[in-house]
Amino acid sequence: MNNPNYNRRINERIRRRRRRATVLTIFFFVIILLSLLSVFAVLQIREHLDDREENNPPDITDQTVQTTEPADQTTTAPIEQTTAAPETDPPAPLVTYTTVTLTRDAITQGDLILVNADLPYTFPLTEGHLTTVYGNKSRGYQLGSAQDKLDTDVLAALNTAADAFLAETGETGLLLANNGAYRSYAAQEDLYARRVAQYGEEEAAKYVALPGVSEHHTGLAFDLALYIDGKTYALDAFDAYDWIPENFPRYGFILRYPANKIAQTGIGYEPWHFRYVGIPHAVYMTANNLCLEEYINVLRAYQATGEHLFVESDGRRYEIWYVPFAVEAETTSILIPDGVPYSISGNNRDGFIVTLTHNSTAQ
Ligand code: DAL
Ligand code: ZN
Repeated sequence: MNNPNYNRRINERIRRRRRRATVLTIFFFVIILLSLLSVFAVLQIREHLDDREENNPPDITDQTVQTTEPADQTTTAPIEQTTAAPETDPPAPLVTYTTVTLTRDAITQGDLILVNADLPYTFPLTEGHLTTVYGNKSRGYQLGSAQDKLDTDVLAALNTAADAFLAETGETGLLLANNGAYRSYAAQEDLYARRVAQYGEEEAAKYVALPGVSEHHTGLAFDLALYIDGKTYALDAFDAYDWIPENFPRYGFILRYPANKIAQTGIGYEPWHFRYVGIPHAVYMTANNLCLEEYINVLRAYQATGEHLFVESDGRRYEIWYVPFAVEAETTSILIPDGVPYSISGNNRDGFIVTLTHNSTAQ
């Protein structure tokens, strides 16, 4: 057992094993170190890429151009990701309402009252809502009579519309006809009698309403003519004045008795007679070829709890609905959202029309 050769071999074997163990340990250590370094490097690279995306969002302009290319272009895909809407909408602002309570007699007043042979006008107790046109008119038109009066708000709308006409066309011949604005019951009675004497009852009734059922009682209607170089003409005598029926709806006025609505209105074609109803109503009626008789019926489909009618004009958005007056009720209540300008008009028959004016078409 004490053979020196034998001992040397044993010692040699032990040394070799130790060397091999050391080499293996170092090898495994290096492998583990390299693995850790790789993981660390990958994490660093991903973080760097995320940072770059946040700081330099994709160029939407460029990519939007790509969307105009054929649909199978793969370049359109990232746009959906970068322009996607947030998953949750912000909470809607709280809407509060004010209740407006109206009595039955309010049905007979307002910009949208229908006045015709079946629906007489209810004269208010005073003429406080009227303003004499003379001294209060704009430059856009001439005046046939210093006595004529109009509803104060309607006069303001006419002044605005006539000035727009003058500014856009340069034409100075527009005339508010003599006795063509507000008429009392007596004034209409007198006019009707004169026309019957002149043309006979049947012909007179085509163009002059019986006293009590004329729109001229309301102060919302007026007759326009032309006065050029000392002569009077009908409004449709010169093409330059086509601007009036085409653009007056944007200011709230309708041509009340068109040629294609004689059966509905009961009145012959009157190219001179305009009636204020309010901007969205005039715009909608004109665009949809509806006279007031028809429009009042159309609005019955838009009630408070159902779909409302939306009309846009000159950057404003209007919301409209109809509120019938309950037959047995003494009052009707209407909920109006706070902070939104509104108007309520009777229809002179059986209810009210509510109009909200939203600030812009973007709402
Ligand atoms: N010219 C209209 C119909 C009126 O007299 O009221
Ligand atoms: Zn008239």
